[in-house]
Amino acid sequence: MTIDDHRETNEDARGETAQSQTMIPIYVLGKRYEVPQGLTIMKALEYAGHTLKRGCGCRGGACGACATVIRHTDKYRLQVGLACQTVAEPDTHLLQLPYVPAHKAIYDLDRLPPDEASITALYPELLRCMGCNTCTRSCPMDLEVMNYVGATLRGDWDQVVDLSMECLMCGMCAARCPAELAPFNIALLVRRMRGRQRYAPSPDLRQRLADISAGVFDDELQQLKDMNREKLQERFYHHQKSKGAAV
Ligand code: FES
Repeated sequence: MTIDDHRETNEDARGETAQSQTMIPIYVLGKRYEVPQGLTIMKALEYAGHTLKRGCGCRGGACGACATVIRHTDKYRLQVGLACQTVAEPDTHLLQLPYVPAHKAIYDLDRLPPDEASITALYPELLRCMGCNTCTRSCPMDLEVMNYVGATLRGDWDQVVDLSMECLMCGMCAARCPAELAPFNIALLVRRMRGRQRYAPSPDLRQRLADISAGVFDDELQQLKDMNREKLQERFYHHQKSKGAAV
């Protein structure tokens, strides 16, 4: 997450938390702030005056963009969490990671033999895994990362798929792995290979891609691009209402 310190309280965040009276101290990049108790870290940052410009995508625990390193002042252990899901605790130091430059192999799935040799050729560091479990302890989604790395080595791809499907690709496992693996990218490769092996190409997807290439949606997209904020909001609420969603 990339943040800008505007040194003034974000009014939206303050409005939502006006009821909360108890203030707690947090430290962002070493600087102390007082924020209302009960806010998520993301809301606390906004309350403190930071504008979240990057790395705060979904706000719903689904995109992995808001990975945060957390340490309580009286503890030595570094913890991790998603800023949009984790409630800020008093006396915690917080660091947002906008990006982890982990190794990501380039490959053409159409030409890649779906076997273990392909995986270790693309990610030879996989063989260095020593089973220390640091990756599992670093996962803000509580996934069994070490177990899916082990399943990759054993060739048990179904287990890799099961254990890694909820991965948000935040990169925390790679940031902390002492053997310098990027488990999330390795699991992505395995899921892709498994999917390619097991499932027939989807005719609906093929059709949708053809529609996109033929420009079927261009006019509609341009209309959205031309709308101002109010029009976009109106359109969004209308759409949500038509689906019966709460707005
Ligand atoms: S903003 Fe998407 S997971 Fe937190």
